[in-house]
Amino acid sequence: MGMEKTTIRIAIGSDHGGIDLKSHIISHLSETQPHTQIQDVGTHNPDSVDYPDYAEKVTQAITQKEADLGILVCGTGIGMSIKANRTNGIRAALVFSDFTAEMAKAHNNANILCLGGRTTDPQDAKKFIDIWLNTPFEGDRHARRVEKLG
Ligand code: RB5
Repeated sequence: MGMEKTTIRIAIGSDHGGIDLKSHIISHLSETQPHTQIQDVGTHNPDSVDYPDYAEKVTQAITQKEADLGILVCGTGIGMSIKANRTNGIRAALVFSDFTAEMAKAHNNANILCLGGRTTDPQDAKKFIDIWLNTPFEGDRHARRVEKLG
């Protein structure tokens, strides 16, 4: 029997400040991670929109079990992370390096990765996403701490 990877459903959303980086990320995931299924919740054009609306679409996809993980992109990633973390069961991590991307999963079991379209280079963003997807949660004492997040 082959070691087949199970499909990971990822909901991705952005505002106008993150739309270009969102496109880069979607192309990257569809080209390099065939076991991922992407749900793009928008925005779909460069018109100015409100980032909390798109954070909510992604958090809802996760809490309603239509997606396993989420990616949120705004200008800095800050507004998206603030909004996403207001939802129970969501652990959204704004990452800016290989190390923070790794720790976001290994220690925090982040189910949403936040990125800044105006602050993060697309090549770096793709690397952070791959690291986050490929890193396992360490569990153990970190599971106890994550449990305490509520
Ligand atoms: C939109 O101009 C900008 O405020 C938004 O993309 C984001 O950076 C908020 O945190």
